[in-house]
Order: sequence, then structure tokens, then C-alpha cells
Amino acid sequence: MKTLKYYFAKAKKEKFAIGQFNFSDWSQVKGIIAAAANLKSPIILGTSEGESKFVGSQEAVAMVKILRRKTGLPIFLNLDHAKSFEYIKEAILAGYDMVHFDGSKLPLEENIKISKKVAALAKKHGVVVEGEVGRFGTDASRLYKEKFEIKEEDLTSSADAQLYVKKTGVDVLAVSVGTFHGIDNSGASPNIRLERLKEIAEKVALPLVLHGGSGTPEKDVAQAIGLGICKININTDIRLAFSARLRKMLEINKDEITPYKYLAEPIEAVRAVVEEKIKLFGSVSKA
Ligand code: 13P
Repeated sequence: MKTLKYYFAKAKKEKFAIGQFNFSDWSQVKGIIAAAANLKSPIILGTSEGESKFVGSQEAVAMVKILRRKTGLPIFLNLDHAKSFEYIKEAILAGYDMVHFDGSKLPLEENIKISKKVAALAKKHGVVVEGEVGRFGTDASRLYKEKFEIKEEDLTSSADAQLYVKKTGVDVLAVSVGTFHGIDNSGASPNIRLERLKEIAEKVALPLVLHGGSGTPEKDVAQAIGLGICKININTDIRLAFSARLRKMLEINKDEITPYKYLAEPIEAVRAVVEEKIKLFGSVSKA
């Protein structure tokens, strides 16, 4: 199988984005993999620190290894939004293919210092590193009751991004250009700042990453990919589809106690969402 770096280079050249789909347990993985297999797409499975603790880092690695072997698909595993060097080290040693260091709350100098250390360790193990400059709006619920607008000062500055990339040696860069984690009640959220993205892409040659992909209007996604976005992260849309269908199944089958019977439909709901995203990201038949 070709490496993740190969697929990032291919995405940049051919202007598509690899979907990163986060999961909390095996049921969602089943839906995500079914979508990737149907559409012959490369994918990245993602676990946040919380998700990786729930699933188990070594268990997640073992799962991905077997899925790769069974399907022959380029399936990779990323540790999403890790906040400490120690946790990243654990994931690298466990066998993750990629790690994302989120030093966005730190002063730029400190972010650069730790990112550099992460990149040096990752390089030794052949692991891809995602860095981050700028901040994404987020809160625990991910379902905002009001319209969410990202603060101007949280957007990535192109000068900071250029300096960060030059000093750290990361492989791909997450940029804050108007998206946020979760979805709000306005429907057509968020408002991607394409001008800002263009400015960053002119100064940074690395593949760029868009977080907060749920609820992003289709035309904004297509334009962002055209401007250099090579990976898009999706979590909330999967959680929503899975949880809503599970609630419905338990409600209409009050006496059903066999998990594989009531979980089949929520898995199917995840497959449908992921297939939609893969088509939108243009990664069909890119495996
Ligand atoms: P959403 O929950 O908005 O899809 O964002 C996911 C994400 O960016 C994970 O890093």
C-alpha cells in the first residue's frame, strides 16, 4: 500500500480532499469503512484524545491494520487535537499513522517549540504530523443553539502560518478560516473566508487541512479544495446521524435487546453520511 504522504501529494496535485472521519466505537468504523469500500476512496480514521481513550490507542491501531489487510484500501489513523507531547508520543509508539498537535491555545513561540519536537519524533517513526495555527471555535456540545461566528482574531494569519511551517517541519497544516467544530442553528453555517485561505496558500506550500467540516455549505467546500485544502475533518455529522438513528431504533423496538439488530440501521446512517462527504470531497476512486 502507498503511504499517507503519497496520498496527500496526490490530493494536492489532483485537487481533492481526503476525508478524516472520527469515531468513538467499532459501529461507526463499520459504517465509515463500508462507504470507503463502496467508493474506493482513501480515508483517514480520526480519534480525538477523548475518543482514543475510550476506544484504546492500541486497539484502534490493531483495528486499522486488520481493515487495511482485509479491504486492501488506504485506510490511515490520525490522533486528532492532541494537546501534549507525551500523549502524542504514546500514539506514535502505539502505531498511529499520523498525529495532530494542537498548540493553538499557546503563544506562537511555544506552539512552534513543541511542534518542532513532535515533528522530529514523528519523522523517526515515519509518522505524518499535522500542525495548527489559528483557533477553531468549539464547545463540548457541538450543537449550538445560536448562530456561531468565529472571532476575527482566531483566524490563521498567513505570516504566522509561514513562520510556523518554516520553523517546525510539520507535513500538513490545519488553518482556521471560518469553520468551527459542530453545527449551529443557522443551517448554512459556517462562513469560509476564501480570501484568507488563498492568502495562506500563497505563502504555505504544504497540504492544508480544514477542521469543522460538518454543516459547511457544499459550494464553500468545493472552493476550499480548489484553493489547497487536502483533508477535511468530519465528526459532528457522523455523531448526529448515528445517535438520531439509534434513538429511533430503540424507540420503535422497545423490547429489542440484541445490539447487532438495533445497531445495523445506525451503521447504515453513518455509511450514507460518509458516502455523501467522499463524493463532495472528490476522493471517489482515488484509492
Ligand atoms: P465537526 O465536528 O464540525 O465535523 O469537526 C470535526 C473536526 O474538525 C475534528 O477535528
